[in-house]
Amino acid sequence: MKINAGIKGTGCYLPKKILTNSELEKTVDTTDEWIRTRTGIEERRIAADDEAVSDMALKAAEQAVKNAGIKKEDISLIITATITPDTPWPSAAAMVQSKLGVDGIPSYDVSAACSGFIYGLDMARAFVETGRYDNVLLIAAEKLSCITDWQDRNTCVLLGDGAGAAVIGQTKEEGIMATAIHSDGSKRDMLYQPAGGSAMPASEETVKNRLHYLKMDGAEVYKMAVEKMPKVLGEVLEKAGKTPEAVDFVIFHQANIRIIKSIAKRFGWPDEKNIINIQKFGNTSAATIPIALAQAMEEGRIKKGDLVAMSAFGAGLTWGGAVVRI
Ligand code: UT7
Repeated sequence: MKINAGIKGTGCYLPKKILTNSELEKTVDTTDEWIRTRTGIEERRIAADDEAVSDMALKAAEQAVKNAGIKKEDISLIITATITPDTPWPSAAAMVQSKLGVDGIPSYDVSAACSGFIYGLDMARAFVETGRYDNVLLIAAEKLSCITDWQDRNTCVLLGDGAGAAVIGQTKEEGIMATAIHSDGSKRDMLYQPAGGSAMPASEETVKNRLHYLKMDGAEVYKMAVEKMPKVLGEVLEKAGKTPEAVDFVIFHQANIRIIKSIAKRFGWPDEKNIINIQKFGNTSAATIPIALAQAMEEGRIKKGDLVAMSAFGAGLTWGGAVVRI
């Protein structure tokens, strides 16, 4: 008998500190007007100095476990999607495993940048459907503020910190109906962190040249995002045997409101179907989709039985999509 995998519960955590556009006007050559009209962002959250990714991940995870109606002992695997783990290694997932107090279960990170949640969803779904693991705790958490160049107006106005989580487990009805993930490493330099890895280890030079910060060719990434996200959405809708009209809600990776609205328009999805929170939180990389999902469910906007389409695009380059019956 076919095992169905579904989202059993979601949670999220946003740090308390709010950084507004007008505050950024004081530190870089930008304006509230430019940021709002070009990106849709009004403010973003910034984690405290003593708040690492695993701390935010833990809070989102605890909420997801509670909302799933399971005990933490029922979790059989932890996957954390992040590009800003507490330390380059070991994984943030291992930190979460220890902080959550679930002995011995496997845990690892997925490095797929902004597409990390969809990558994790694809993986968790496969594990549940094949019976390999049940109740996979999938977390996407980022402290992008620690790889943000606060002197670079091209990127610092875009990013924020936060965490979202979901428990993926066996469900009676079909839950995760389709997933698809892709990558193109030939375009890795469009969005990346040059130093700190084996190709360019940390040195005085790399620090002096600000090479431990995120670099992005925004215009090129924009072009790729508006090409790849609709394509992968078409792919997952077809796999799920659903038309765009059948979709109750869509959740895009929150990188730019212009990208989100233009793609939604192509599919005929009105604003009421489009879950957007970029105004409040900016781009939190892998965490944008699970944060939006968790909040929309908490508010009762997305309800059990709703058909939700999701799509993400980010560094790698990576991109992916999913169609999920909640
Ligand atoms: O999360 C992973 C995926 N990421 C994305 O999908 C992001 C995709 N890219 C974007 O969202 C947009 O390209 C940005 C928001 C990053 C930039 O918007 P844009 O409309 O593409 O602007 P641009 O890069 O073409 O720059 C236009 C102008 C430039 O000035 P000049 O050269 O025309 O004089 C920039 O220097 O805007 C300038 N600019 C700014 N001005 C005020 C760039 N950043 C700012 C700023 N404030 N913060």
